[in-house]
Amino acid sequence: MYKIAWLPGDGVGNEVMEAAKIVLDALKLDAEYIPGDIGWEFWKSEGNPLPDRTIELCQNTDCALFGAITSKPKEEAEAELAPELKGKGLIYSSPIVRLRQEFNLRTNKRPCKAYPGNPLNYREAIDITVFRENTEDLYSGVEFYPLPKQLSSLMASLHKKMKRFADQDESEVALSCRLVTKTASRNIIRDAFEFAKATGKKSVTVVEKPNVLRETSGLFVRIGREVAKDYPDIELWETNIDAMCMWLIKNPLDYSIMVTTNMFGDIISDLCAQLVGGLGFACSGNIGDDYAVFEPTHGSAPKYAGMHKVNPMAMLLATKMMFEYLGEKENAERLEAAVAAVIKEGKVRTYDMGGNSSTLDVARAVAEKL
Ligand code: IPM
Ligand code: MG
Repeated sequence: MYKIAWLPGDGVGNEVMEAAKIVLDALKLDAEYIPGDIGWEFWKSEGNPLPDRTIELCQNTDCALFGAITSKPKEEAEAELAPELKGKGLIYSSPIVRLRQEFNLRTNKRPCKAYPGNPLNYREAIDITVFRENTEDLYSGVEFYPLPKQLSSLMASLHKKMKRFADQDESEVALSCRLVTKTASRNIIRDAFEFAKATGKKSVTVVEKPNVLRETSGLFVRIGREVAKDYPDIELWETNIDAMCMWLIKNPLDYSIMVTTNMFGDIISDLCAQLVGGLGFACSGNIGDDYAVFEPTHGSAPKYAGMHKVNPMAMLLATKMMFEYLGEKENAERLEAAVAAVIKEGKVRTYDMGGNSSTLDVARAVAEKL
């Protein structure tokens, strides 16, 4: 019997997780779903959107299903804290980003497939999987504001281009560090190549910006070339992130597997999601060596919360990814086939697809096909 951490989070996260439950019950997965606290409510009441008890729950389960969370900028977050927590210097940080880092869920795999019959497909037959490094880069969380004088003078003494920033008042400058390691780069690039090999794909595209970000992107691309040598049958393509955005709109069928660092992966995966119908169809697996968290790529959509309006397909496809991770190959295939059949039939559609079915109508329609 599997133990699965059940983390609906905020807003529509709850509704899409209800949809997932309908499908899991229909498949009669032998699992215990253990609810965990995560999200805005716990930020407001405890000053921590990812309480320690939830971390513990994750440590004691096989993997987690996660809905969505609300995040707000620093000042707004502080303003919503319970009165007794205000002024204590608590800083909101995204619980999903923390989960990725705490459990070293180093691979963020984001498949984007144009299912036949989806009226929102940008082109038919698009099938792209983004491999996004999930723990470092600009998401490392090493940020400064105001920029400490000590740090700016040290940097200026090491790098002449720092001088014009170091000369300014510290309240004029903010700094976010882009930290990229060889190990994390190697791991994510290897995952992309292994996936290409397993699925018989001909190429892997490394998406970076090494002509400007010489050290960080440069390192990532060099590791890409190194890893590629172990896969002589798979071509390595290198494309700059800006050009990639253009090519994906122009010739989306030319690409099947992309691999990149955290921030570029965040951006390019939204673009790829839109090519196949938008965030209602975009799922993610955050996968590490010992744990994994599956989630729809979309957020908590506060304006739709409680309305059972949003498309649960992304969540159902995330559930399919969870089956793959658990080695439940047959369940994964059955679920994907059922999702594809409902999309193709076109009778049960949420508002984004031009229909007026509810979140749970879609889940029931998928369950019926199983
Ligand atoms: C995503 C989201 C998250 C991210 C947010 C919610 C912190 O945009 O999973 O793509 O930036 O990684
Ligand atoms: Mg994103």
